[in-house]
Amino acid sequence: MSFTVFEQAPARLNRSELAVPGSSVRFLEKAAQGDADVVFLDLEDAVAPDEKEKARKNIIQALNDLDWSGKTVSMRINGLDTPYMYRDLVEVLEGAPGKLDLVMIPKVGTAADVYTVDCLISQIEAATKATKRIGIEIIIESALGMANVDAIAAASKRNESLHFGVADYAASTKAATVGIGGPNPNYGVLTDPLEDGERHYHWGDMWHYALSRLVVAARAHGLRPLDGPFGDIKDAEGFKAQARRAMVLGCEGKWAIHPTQVALSNDIFTPSESEVAKARAILDAMEQAAKEGRGAVTLDGKLIDIASIKQAEVLVHKAEQIGA
Ligand code: GLV
Ligand code: MG
Repeated sequence: MSFTVFEQAPARLNRSELAVPGSSVRFLEKAAQGDADVVFLDLEDAVAPDEKEKARKNIIQALNDLDWSGKTVSMRINGLDTPYMYRDLVEVLEGAPGKLDLVMIPKVGTAADVYTVDCLISQIEAATKATKRIGIEIIIESALGMANVDAIAAASKRNESLHFGVADYAASTKAATVGIGGPNPNYGVLTDPLEDGERHYHWGDMWHYALSRLVVAARAHGLRPLDGPFGDIKDAEGFKAQARRAMVLGCEGKWAIHPTQVALSNDIFTPSESEVAKARAILDAMEQAAKEGRGAVTLDGKLIDIASIKQAEVLVHKAEQIGA
């Protein structure tokens, strides 16, 4: 282990993160009753400029009047390059004190962007004598943000998670896309002729680098990595394939831009019973090994050692949170 140790963000369940436009009272009400682990109340891109003021009011009312228990509640503020961001924070944090768990900052480009929002939140928390400390979620969705992702991840002690905003990222990098967060058939590999003389075309994952880069930056700084939106809400199989890739790379969860995507995401990011049973068996075997003064043992014919404990503990803890 390095001598440099980053504190882990609070262990919140974040298998799904539902986006809800603050401009729709009906969607806000539905979201409070749904099964998303985290709900983010949006003031940014799902809300038209003329609706921003009304959306803030809706969000204040929803935070004060609806029952959000069992969920983590976040609010996506507008970007730092807009005239809305400061009022988003001041109005909602003062109008619904102690209600939000997280604030999500979109289009973060530099560590100073996070520092600015941290400063504002800190002032409002002090002024309102808040007892709950708000955490920060960050969307990485520009070339600048990705270039500075490590510094951004380390920019505030409030930081909890990094999210891959694939739609804006594609726009920023001028990537050629056919749908939000899915593959593009032009991103593929044509094999040389195989033994049968045939050549085969394999689709690749054009988001692999960006998502992997974000996962590494998040994990290195003790934060949760999250995969962002998948635009085709009718394509459940496409959503699941993308969510599984994100899960395999180490993401904690994925966004849902429609309530039907919540269950798909919760399912994919829930460890299976056999995985949990195996993790418990690893912990038992390692406890026994420690008693006998051994650092490694075999379980089902495979070597396990002290490094196996951490992963097993994380998995068992997650299973306990889900069961709670
Ligand atoms: C999310 O905000 C995205 O741009 O994908
Ligand atoms: Mg975006």
